[in-house]
Amino acid sequence: MNVLVTGGMGYIGSHTSIQMIHAGMTPVIFDNLYNSKKTVLERIEKVSGVKPAFIEGDIRNKELLVNVLKDNNIEAVIHFAGLKAVGESVAKPLEYYDNNVNGTLVLVDAMREAGVKTLVFSSSATVYGDPASVPITEDFPTSATNPYGRSKLMVEECLTDFQKANPDWSITLLRYFNPVGSHPSGELGEDPQGIPNNLMPFVSQVAVGRRDFLSVFGSDYPTKDGTGVRDYIHVMDLSDGHVAALQKVGSKHGLHVYNLGTGNGYSVLEMVKAFESASGREVPYQIVDRRPGDIAECWADPKKAMTELDWRAERTLEQMTEDTWRWQSNNPQGYPEA
Ligand code: NAD
Ligand code: UFG
Repeated sequence: MNVLVTGGMGYIGSHTSIQMIHAGMTPVIFDNLYNSKKTVLERIEKVSGVKPAFIEGDIRNKELLVNVLKDNNIEAVIHFAGLKAVGESVAKPLEYYDNNVNGTLVLVDAMREAGVKTLVFSSSATVYGDPASVPITEDFPTSATNPYGRSKLMVEECLTDFQKANPDWSITLLRYFNPVGSHPSGELGEDPQGIPNNLMPFVSQVAVGRRDFLSVFGSDYPTKDGTGVRDYIHVMDLSDGHVAALQKVGSKHGLHVYNLGTGNGYSVLEMVKAFESASGREVPYQIVDRRPGDIAECWADPKKAMTELDWRAERTLEQMTEDTWRWQSNNPQGYPEA
């Protein structure tokens, strides 16, 4: 099966491409390298034995997309490409709506023209806003508190309407909880540019000596130790979830929605402790004010994906932290330039 992977040079897309190759699929990567480096392609080849086809391009370029879809006999698309920093989205809403919403509409239009009718979309648990309770099931109400979250919600709504009008399409919305970890080889991992927004990349940069200490955003939440609780999921499990989605519902007409999470919640301090024991390094931290817009706790009910996709997150917290450390300590400055 030939699958176009938009954003396939990025963190989740690169790991998913590897798991697709192991499952016998052929990923064709389409990425404008806005937030990734060409070296990723060599790393994918190193760990999988296959160098995927790569097209450097922007998802807002419809003509190019139509040609790529046709020329490569693409049967399905996994759509990761987009911008993902919550804080940046508040300062640059137009860029977020243009890349994430407009970009997806152009992609779907190109798919329609090329006759490709299977799409898997990277959504986020952010569409649940501040959930009334945990664990979260797929039928919880959705809302958004920032332009990034609103862009994901808008895309979900556009795709839902589009699928209704085109019942012979298979569209799957995968709502990720908190992806962490790296390929166990230490060859691929998360490589944020500038100051990391997310907890695990920040913690690992402190451990490797790139930053002095972690700021823990609030210790007065109504949680087990007062710090925020999230459902951290190993990126390899998340990647397997995409393969399962293509295999189980990729050919079933309809709109399919799944949480991809573990069902467990860990606090910030638990993550710090786990990382210290995986790395053997101390992670100094200071408690500071809450980060605006953060919620106390958020974790998935993953039963629907378990039942319908025959998928479950299997990797442990130890694997998440050990694999992150292997990547970070082998590549302290991230990927080299190609
Ligand atoms: P990433 O930034 O590492 O990867 C995204 C890739 O898309 C990058 O390689 C970037 O160069 C490319 N890209 C961006 N805009 C593009 C465009 N207009 N045309 C072509 N390529 C473009 O991000 P990631 O962490 O791998 O996330 C992948 C997807 O998953 C995103 O849609 C993100 O919103 C979603 N998601 C991520 C998380 C997370 O915590 N990492 C959580 C929930 C959802
Ligand atoms: N945190 C810190 N210090 C940091 C970074 C994070 O204490 O330097 C805390 C946060 O307050 C939160 C937890 O660590 O309690 C996790 O924070 P992340 O930024 O790693 O993740 P979020 O849950 O806030 O955000 C993630 C994705 C978003 C997505 C959101 C909801 O990054 O894209 O989940 O699904 F919108």
